[in-house]
Amino acid sequence: MKISTYLIIFFIILLFALGFVLGYNQNPNATKFQNENNKFIDHNERQIYEERQIGITDQQETKNNIVFGTKTDNETESEKAPDVEYYKKAKVLQNLYPDTFIMNHQTFEKKIALTFDDGPDGKTTPRILDTLKEYNVTATFFVLGKNVKLYPKIVNRMINEGHQVANHSWSHLRPTELSLEEFLLEIDSAEEILQNYINRLEFFYYRPPYGLLTPEQIEEINYKGYKIISWSIDSLDWNVPEPEKIQDKVISSVHPGAIILMHSAGGKDQREGTIKALPGIIENLTKQGYEFVTVHNLINEI
Ligand code: NI
Repeated sequence: MKISTYLIIFFIILLFALGFVLGYNQNPNATKFQNENNKFIDHNERQIYEERQIGITDQQETKNNIVFGTKTDNETESEKAPDVEYYKKAKVLQNLYPDTFIMNHQTFEKKIALTFDDGPDGKTTPRILDTLKEYNVTATFFVLGKNVKLYPKIVNRMINEGHQVANHSWSHLRPTELSLEEFLLEIDSAEEILQNYINRLEFFYYRPPYGLLTPEQIEEINYKGYKIISWSIDSLDWNVPEPEKIQDKVISSVHPGAIILMHSAGGKDQREGTIKALPGIIENLTKQGYEFVTVHNLINEI
């Protein structure tokens, strides 16, 4: 062999040796640990493994930086920028939990879901139901357990008229301010009363009061079998009394697969704005070729 061949082999060995030493030094405290398959891996692999376990690889920083439970969440008493902050936080959750925290359905079909929160009650909900019946439109009602107890006949009417009825907690406490125990009690109590009225599939949809949850709460109720239904269009009917403004907000934001937030109870004026805005919204969107479906049918493409 020529001398140059010996030199090349020498340099290759030298490079391997250097690589080994450098690689080892970069990770001098490499600790071993055992995963559930009894396979030993070092601490970098362990971090990736743990992140994968909760589905947050590459999202760790966003998850840690998000601030929950502030008064900038939706439906606050505050009059300013009602939904900007909400969307910022909700989109982080949607990215972290794409199969569990649902803001809309990805589709090219012109199908949308109208959703009405906080009912039933004896005044507003029946008027919303009258309008939906008049236009032969189905919607989804996220109801409060305590109101279901007070107005059982209205819940039966919702079901008989083809609407979806789902869990909006027992008493509308802000989840991000609750302990895990308090949070689960709110859901379980509503679940218990709802099972007297509707089938299992339907009450396993939950909308958090004020729209947001902590990652821990999302993981917990996902484990219980729930899908969390947020929204992609806030009608702002909880914040704006004028029916024209509510209509404009919904019509100007509409898109295939939209989930639209409205209310069928509460408010200072019994949701007069919502009641007056609804016929115009249905007429306009129907003309545009949109079909109104329940949340269950929208996300399952039924
Ligand atoms: Ni609500």
